[in-house]
Parts: sequence; structure tokens; C-alpha cells
Amino acid sequence: MDLSVKIGKMTLQNPILTASGTFGYGPEFRDFLDLDRIGGFCTKGISIEPRGGNPAPRIVETASGMLNSIGLENCGSKAFLEKVMPQIRNVKSAIIVNFYAGTEEDFIKLAEILSTDKRIDALEMNLSCPNVKKGGSAFGSNPELIERLTKAVKNVTDKTLIVKLSPNVTDITATAAAAESGGADSVSLINTLIGTAIDREKRTFILGNKIGGLSGPAIKPVALKMVWQTAKAVKIPVIGIGGISNLEDVLDFLIVGAKAVQIGAWNFINPSIAAECADGLEKYLRQRGETLNELTGSIKE
Ligand SMILES: Cc1cc2nc3c(=O)[nH]c(=O)nc-3n(C[C@H](O)[C@H](O)[C@H](O)COP(=O)(O)O)c2cc1C
Repeated sequence: MDLSVKIGKMTLQNPILTASGTFGYGPEFRDFLDLDRIGGFCTKGISIEPRGGNPAPRIVETASGMLNSIGLENCGSKAFLEKVMPQIRNVKSAIIVNFYAGTEEDFIKLAEILSTDKRIDALEMNLSCPNVKKGGSAFGSNPELIERLTKAVKNVTDKTLIVKLSPNVTDITATAAAAESGGADSVSLINTLIGTAIDREKRTFILGNKIGGLSGPAIKPVALKMVWQTAKAVKIPVIGIGGISNLEDVLDFLIVGAKAVQIGAWNFINPSIAAECADGLEKYLRQRGETLNELTGSIKE
């Protein structure tokens, strides 16, 4: 059965991806699932230089979700290309490298650096991290900046470019439209919603960074609504993210118009979930005698 999806120049063998920051760099999950069975995976956000991230504690469990303030800890672009890529370059699924910088110049420089590796299928530009002081959400809430930066990055890369959007804005369709007019091949949404948690005995914040990003099943209704609205507002493919924990959630995002989905926090609960959803989607469509194309965007308004 054909479950393939085209996003820019990249062809995914199926629409199930894993979300950045919840799947390591890929190899860490090899004991739990066959990387060749999923559509692809997004790496932890890569910066030019290595980053240590935020002070601990960096994770708190919440009702039906979690808050994180990792602060984009990563090995840096050099170690990623030299040490990590050799471990994953033979997988059949798509390798999507999520990347982050604190300035426009560094976003462009980093896109150039990552574009030197032919095996990387796509770059996912994180304009939406709530856990870092420089860049992050500041970029992600300004449509003019998004359009300019997308255009500049497109100019230096021939990779499929996905712009990852923040839900912490008044109107996500405006930021999606800005990415589209800047030349993005796709937008992915949503990143985490900003929140906090306190220790009422100590009267302190639990997270070392005080605030963090909320993810997991708690955010699914918010994400689903934003993906539905965005899929109607732009012509480029929308990748749906937010609170997906089973096949039913995957179906919901596809029905409202997502061309592919990413599974995030649930990888921590069930590290095989992405492969299970890929198998489950095929079975579901086969049983119904429906194609992926017929399912996608089939919501009745
Ligand atoms: C621990 C953790 C780390 C994350 N790191 C990144 C990151 O480096 N870059 C990024 O774009 N998103 C990052 N995210 C956001 C996820 O990719 C995803 O957009 C978000 O968690 C919502 O999906 P979910 O509810 O399925 O987790 C991170 C999320 C978590 C939970």
C-alpha cells in the first residue's frame, strides 16, 4: 500500500515522523523500533557550537503532559556531522535535522554547514523554542522576520526547508503565511506551549529556568485546532505535532489536513509508538479501502 508523502523535494515512505528533542539523534531508539519502518525522524535541535542547556531540574510531569526547559542542549554541528551522521546515514527513513541559532546570521551560517551533507533530507528551522534567551520565540512571533529569515536560509540551501512554528502567538496562520511567502517547503506545528510549575512548600519554581514548554496529550486539542486552521490558510504541506499518543490521534491530524505528523513526548512513554502508528495507519486504510490521499483533509466543515 502506498503511504508515501512528498514534502518539498523529500519523499517520506509514510507520514509518521518523530519530533525533535524527543528522539535523541535517532540511534538511541534503535533498540526500541526499526528506524526503517517510520517515515523519518527529526534530530534534537543542532546549533553551530555545542550547548550545555539550562540548569536542572529541566523536566516536570504535569496533568496529561510534561514541562521541559532543556534549553537546546546538543553536541554542535561539527560533532553532529562527523560523529552522529555516520551512524544514521544508511537508514531508509528521512533524516530531518532540526536547527537553531541565536541570530539571523548564525541561522544562515548553520543552514550552510548542514547543507554540506548530502544524506540529510530536510532542515527543520526551529523558530519557536520557549526555553532560550536569544532567538527562539522572539523570532517565531514576528511574521516579517520569519519571511526574511526563511528567504535568506532558502538562498543558501537546496534542502527541503521546514519552518517550525510557535503556538505562543495570537494568530499562527499569519506566521505560517510568512514562512510560505519566504519560500518554506513546509511548516511544522506546534512547538510547546509556555508554562510553569511551582514547589509550594519551598515557594520556588520547580524548573531551573522557571518557565518551560508544555507538551504531551494535554496540548492535543490546541494543536489540532491550529493545524486545521493552518492547513486551510497555506498551500504548502503542514506537518502536525502536539500530544499525539496513538493511531487515533494520528488520524485526527491527517483528517484536519496535516500531510504528515510528528510524535513527541509520547516517545518517552512508549519508544516504539512511531513504528506502531505507521503499521496501524496502513492497517486502518486497508480495512476501510481508503487511500492516504482520501483520508488527508477529509474533515467535513
Ligand atoms: C524534552 C523535549 C525537548 C524538545 N526539544 C526540541 C528541540 O530541540 N527543537 C524543537 O524544535 N522542538 C523541541 N521540542 C518540541 C517537540 O518537538 C514538539 O514540538 C512538542 O513537544 C509538541 O509535541 P508533543 O506534544 O508530541 O511532545 C522538545 C520537546 C520536548 C518534550
